[in-house]
Amino acid sequence: MNNIQLKNEINKLKKELNVSIVAHFYQKDEVFDMADFTGDSLELAKWAAKDEKPNLIFCGVGFMGQSVKILAPQKRVFMPKIACCAMARMIDADYFDNNVKILEKAGIKKEDIMPVTYINSSAEVKARVGEMGGYVCTSSNAKKIIIKARESGKKILFVPDRCLGQNIAIDMGLTSCVIGDGVDPKSADIICYNGFCSVHQLFDVEDIEFYRAKYPDILIAAHPECKPEVCAKADFVGSTSQIIKYIKELPLEQKIAVGTEFNMVNRLREKNTFVLSSTKPECPTMNETTLKDLYATLLSIKEKNMKMR
Ligand code: 13P
Ligand code: SF4
Repeated sequence: MNNIQLKNEINKLKKELNVSIVAHFYQKDEVFDMADFTGDSLELAKWAAKDEKPNLIFCGVGFMGQSVKILAPQKRVFMPKIACCAMARMIDADYFDNNVKILEKAGIKKEDIMPVTYINSSAEVKARVGEMGGYVCTSSNAKKIIIKARESGKKILFVPDRCLGQNIAIDMGLTSCVIGDGVDPKSADIICYNGFCSVHQLFDVEDIEFYRAKYPDILIAAHPECKPEVCAKADFVGSTSQIIKYIKELPLEQKIAVGTEFNMVNRLREKNTFVLSSTKPECPTMNETTLKDLYATLLSIKEKNMKMR
């Protein structure tokens, strides 16, 4: 089947099986086009949890589908690929416990730690954070959540993305450290776990300098998973949805270079939009899902439904 035939079959099966499809902005165009709803991590989780259809196909990475299941356990959530976000894989429950122990050794009592996990983490890490009375945040609400978490008067342990933790600290005028960087954690307001996104590590200050030298009026937008020195030099820092909104409000003649995943940047505007890197910043796991996988998932739902009758 070619892509047009596949798309027709997917639309037919979707109706017949009462399935909604959601896709993150980093999905391939062919998959993105098939979604009933697209959004950033927070928007997708909220929309999917409220959607009335009993079946959901989530085109994204593992923690995103898991988040819907946490928010709406009654829903059948299917993922065409068990694509796991590389950053989310950098921490599990044992690593989390070890890092709490490191802080205890450094003289911070467990009861004085308030953990906050980025949504890009597994359900078991979220459960550990929950056991300690902590919070889950996304890139679009991280600052709000940190403000809330700080009301406890405890030290914030931010996992797994050190860049998001450091960027929020800078934005709020707070101090931060990364566990293992030699800085005494007692001296920091936000203590970050040493995780990162390999895709967003690709953007450098040199890339910003290159574009600004070439086009003096260019604007720079960056995702908060980028390095703090990159975010500090950007004109705008925000979640994927916030970046899209910011760019849509600009006149088309305004040039902009964007520090986030390639698929999203590529479909932003017809012209005057650049990827803030000399390499192609593709998220390997987001790119695993194809139209064929989506079709195969719908067929397997149909098969399962027939067996259950
Ligand atoms: P958003 O919540 O901004 O969509 O980010 C998710 C993500 O994984 C970015 O790399
Ligand atoms: Fe995870 Fe980075 Fe891919 Fe986002 S871009 S899903 S943080 S690996």
